[in-house]
Amino acid sequence: MSEPMNRREIIKGATGGIGGLITAVIGIPSIAYLIDPALKESAKEDWIPIGKMENIPVGQPTPFSFTRVQVNGWERTATSHGGFVLRNSEALDDLLILNSRCTHLACTVNWSENDKVYLCPCHDAKFSQQGEVLGGPPPRPLDHFTEFRVTEDGVLEIFYKEA
Ligand code: FES
Repeated sequence: MSEPMNRREIIKGATGGIGGLITAVIGIPSIAYLIDPALKESAKEDWIPIGKMENIPVGQPTPFSFTRVQVNGWERTATSHGGFVLRNSEALDDLLILNSRCTHLACTVNWSENDKVYLCPCHDAKFSQQGEVLGGPPPRPLDHFTEFRVTEDGVLEIFYKEA
């Protein structure tokens, strides 16, 4: 017949149990960190949702941005991308989607509502609303996201492919 546990044994058992629990809880993030890079390999190409069509007015360049994470072994690199959607009409496929990366040395252009042009802050380039070069050193117009679609829920998605 076993003897009932005395007070010291109960405390010792409880302490051991709590210690084990703490080890398990602290251990989970460490293990997750160690195996995480392998699990988070980012897709080289993907459909990126950039906004609801109902929130994109006709005739007004509407900015969007998204981030992609590249994983190379233990090293992660987050890269920001962005652009402007220009709806030419109410038709869902009548769009121009410009990349906001300047074609000179890749600074980000901004839309100037006053001048109705995209301005590059790095070397004072100007691009028209359609992305054509109006001034400055860029060798070609702003790039376009040419593949896009609108989901049944009215969300505009662009097709992103890692260069
Ligand atoms: S990077 Fe835009 S003008 Fe040079």
